Amino acid sequence: VFDNRLKKSLGGKKILVTAGPTQEPIDPVRYITNHSSGKMGYAIARAARDRGAEVTLVSGVTNLKKPIGVKVVDIVTTEDMYAEVFNYFDEADIIIKAAAVADYKPKDVAENKIKKSDSNFSIELSRNPDILLELGKVKGDKILIGFAAETNDLLKNAKIKINKKNLDFIVANNISEKGAGFKGDTNIISIIDSLGSIKKYDKMKKEEIAEIILDKVYDLIKLKE
Ligand code: CTP
Ligand code: CA
Repeated sequence: VFDNRLKKSLGGKKILVTAGPTQEPIDPVRYITNHSSGKMGYAIARAARDRGAEVTLVSGVTNLKKPIGVKVVDIVTTEDMYAEVFNYFDEADIIIKAAAVADYKPKDVAENKIKKSDSNFSIELSRNPDILLELGKVKGDKILIGFAAETNDLLKNAKIKINKKNLDFIVANNISEKGAGFKGDTNIISIIDSLGSIKKYDKMKKEEIAEIILDKVYDLIKLKE
């Protein structure tokens, strides 16, 4: 790995990584979120730093240690992430969207704690912006990488996402497989590129997956030069 990192340096490149979940408030004490730990995005940020890149990490709420030598921008909601990603988009050469973004948010946030009543209660949700879709529209010659979390029809769904969001490649993982997904230290991924070619990998540590992703980024940069 060390030799490879030296060979495939990202010195001089600016990388924007997103990681972790977003949280959408319901009232002052409650929120909607998902099981994302942030581990995958943080591993990518550390690995990119170690290859000499200038790294900005836009992070949802996680329990992880802030990586030294990485600019960490903390956010809570999807709207916050959207704003910060576009703050740093112009200067970035490479954007890797590992975050698990909440697709919906409560339409209205209650100012005071919602009290229980004897009847049923429901929350009306409204759509959040799709950050990656918006990035894809203005991508230019930047390298744009997404993730796809699926429980079924993995490759079919991931292929739709890569085209719709104008990505260079997508890292697809079946979060219902054992050893894969949001919480653990390992994942089982397939990488699909913009030509539709698919490579499936065995179960690996998230650190190793980060290196694979960055090797691919490096190869893409060389192709574009
Ligand atoms: N993504 C995003 N903004 C959103 C939703 C998703 O930027 N509002 C990004 C994620 O960071 C990820 C990719 O889009 O890189 C795919 O996320 P995923 O949830 O798998 O796909 P969706 O497009 O949201 O579709 P669905 O949840 O319906 O499968
Ligand atoms: Ca989604």
